[in-house]
Amino acid sequence: ENKPVPGGNNVLVEFEDGIAWVHLNRPEKRNAMSIELAREMNQVLDALEVDDRAGVIVLTGKGDAFSAGMDLQGFFRASDAVSDVERHRAYRETRAWQWRTLMFYAKPTIAMVNGWCFGGAFTPLICCDLAITDEDATFGLSEINWGIIPGGVVSKAISTLMGDREAMYYVMTGEKFDGRRAKELGLVNEAVPGAALKERTRTLAKVLLEKNPTTLRQARMAYKYAREMDWELAAEYLTAKGDQTTFVDREKGREKGMKQFLDEKTYKPGHGTYRR
Ligand code: ACO
Repeated sequence: ENKPVPGGNNVLVEFEDGIAWVHLNRPEKRNAMSIELAREMNQVLDALEVDDRAGVIVLTGKGDAFSAGMDLQGFFRASDAVSDVERHRAYRETRAWQWRTLMFYAKPTIAMVNGWCFGGAFTPLICCDLAITDEDATFGLSEINWGIIPGGVVSKAISTLMGDREAMYYVMTGEKFDGRRAKELGLVNEAVPGAALKERTRTLAKVLLEKNPTTLRQARMAYKYAREMDWELAAEYLTAKGDQTTFVDREKGREKGMKQFLDEKTYKPGHGTYRR
């Protein structure tokens, strides 16, 4: 049963044929991320995880920014002004959606970078499963430019996708780069012309929507956890995860796929998905 997405003006959700377009919605502030935005985003992502209208999540920004990073006023100054306990809560609520929730989300996620992407915005970008950018979008680890370190979990996040030399270069210089360079650095899957950004993202989302959602979820989790493990543990974990997948998959994809290939000879897994 579908419920309305929890309210607020900082996050805007549009549904379209199984895709939930989740917008950071503070275009007049270049989608800088405030404490209120974090609270709202936590509610929205929690709700979408069990909302049938959302098969794939696309995270993007309204206006000409993906996100200009943490809001210096509405996050840093606001959290400096409250008690230490509340300040830590603000950090926790921000980390929650930007990192943990997105990283281990039940549904596939695509970051669609439509413009400015600075500092703290790298965390949700990296924690989405996939990312597509406007080739002319502007990225930057601008923290150094105003006297802070890439904190939150930005430094950790970039180390998972960027090489050390490149990560250190941008951490230390705060130099801007465009979407094409973001692709070279491994931060995104593709950099496309701005006019093609939404259509390309929609096409990719549709590919994901055709897959068995249980297997897709298990495959995403398996990869994300296995990369943190040594080989012995990963081998044991992945074998168990495979068994678990067969157990929880109500669609019985493994059985269907095997039957259609081996017995019926009606499809070849190398060329595409089995008939669901
Ligand atoms: N925090 C707070 N307010 C912001 C932020 C931010 N991160 N980014 C933009 N804004 C505000 C501006 O102060 C301005 O507010 P105002 O209209 O009330 O004066 C409004 O958003 C529009 O921004 P402009 O600077 O006028 O927009 P412009 O298009 O000229 O520049 C740019 C865009 C380059 C993104 C610029 O706003 C900027 O440098 N922002 C900060 C980027 C940054 O370094 N973010 C922090 C990264 S570090 C971290 O996230 C931990």
